[in-house]
Amino acid sequence: MEEKKPQEPLQAARGMHDILPSRSDRYASMESAARKVFSAFNYTEIRTPVMEPAELYERAIGETTDIVEKEMFVLKDRGDRRLCLRPEGTAGIVRAYIENNLGHEFPIAKFFYIGPMFRAERPQKGRYREFVQIGSEYFGNERPAADAETIILAHSLIKKFGLSDIQILVNTIGCPACRPKYLEVLKAYLEGKKNDLCENCRTRLVKNPLRALDCKEDADKFGDAPKTVDHLCEACRTHYASVLEHLKSAQVPFAERPRLVRGLDYYTRTVFEVYSTGNTGSQGALAAGGRYDGLVEQLGGNPVPAVGFALGVERVLNELDAASPVSDAKSRRGVFLIPLGAPAYEVVQKLLIQVREAGIPAESGAADQSIKSQMRLADRIGAEYCVIIGDNELASGEFALKNLESKSQQNIPKDKLVQVLVDRYSVKS
Ligand code: HAM
Repeated sequence: MEEKKPQEPLQAARGMHDILPSRSDRYASMESAARKVFSAFNYTEIRTPVMEPAELYERAIGETTDIVEKEMFVLKDRGDRRLCLRPEGTAGIVRAYIENNLGHEFPIAKFFYIGPMFRAERPQKGRYREFVQIGSEYFGNERPAADAETIILAHSLIKKFGLSDIQILVNTIGCPACRPKYLEVLKAYLEGKKNDLCENCRTRLVKNPLRALDCKEDADKFGDAPKTVDHLCEACRTHYASVLEHLKSAQVPFAERPRLVRGLDYYTRTVFEVYSTGNTGSQGALAAGGRYDGLVEQLGGNPVPAVGFALGVERVLNELDAASPVSDAKSRRGVFLIPLGAPAYEVVQKLLIQVREAGIPAESGAADQSIKSQMRLADRIGAEYCVIIGDNELASGEFALKNLESKSQQNIPKDKLVQVLVDRYSVKS
């Protein structure tokens, strides 16, 4: 007979992670906290496809950005159409906004989203190939109050997640009226440093000089680079000043960073990044965003101003873990009902429904299993409690509730069992 070869176990794709039960609770509680904050700021949820035409990102994010140049997961469908796993949320939401005419009824529209994004980055701490973003997009309001609201919203969310020691860095990168002049000045500055620039920055100098300020290798060399704020048109200057005033009156802690630019090309005017204090380096920003007044039109819609941000869930979780690590130890949970004999099985089935309706995890053994095998099952499934119900218990009207962790036991009148379990579980949660 042919010998069976042992199968090699497969692993998750590079940079992609399983979210195991010990961590998925944290994701779920961040999501539900976020939903409450978004609702209070009057944002409603939008869910867009995880895959979009690759061209959407090429047009929206920009051909000479890191994301489009080297981080997109592009594949072809059977009709030879180029699709891309979304590297970010904004482009898809703008596409959906235009396609579904979302500004038609209420020209001011505010959306939030929660979902996985994909970038083929070199995996390291805080940088993954699949990660979850929580973000918002605010359409139809060009006033500085909308920029400020977005920053205040990001701040509120991060505070709600339990991080208080954060830094918000703010800048403006001007508009199509004033930015070309700034880019000329920046180009001249970069020309002067040409011999000192990395290869990428030499290309950027010609194609996209603003991106040089964000270069992972060279950014430190540009401490004396011209500042965007010194080359703004009057409208951008007043807009920016007003955003800062709004932030001050909302008492949001922020600092101006006159050389802050973003890695995506669609931004105009306000840009911002949020860091954990003392961690502005390698792991990257917790959240980032800004205004993008040209994007809706650039993707085929009417000219509609917009502003938004996104927060990296894993980066926030890493910070929270550093403060209080999650335990990977599995804890016992739920109650296992053990029927002995047919009459008890009937009772157990009714009880099972009641306990589950009360929101307590519950299971039961089968009528034809011995007490020993049911006890073993309760233990193997990790039940916290078990209740043995046989003829004696049915006759006495009292059930023994046994804690499988502490081994302690308590007799409880039959009709009080559900309430006792509810009380124990409400103390825990
Ligand atoms: P972004 O700066 O590319 O902006 O990403 C926003 C946040 O997503 C980052 O600050 C970071 O927390 C998280 N993030 C990005 N890449 C990774 C990664 N490889 N691994 C883990 N976390 C990551 C945007 O995506 C814009 N769409 C934000 C925006 C919305 N602007 C306007 N509206």
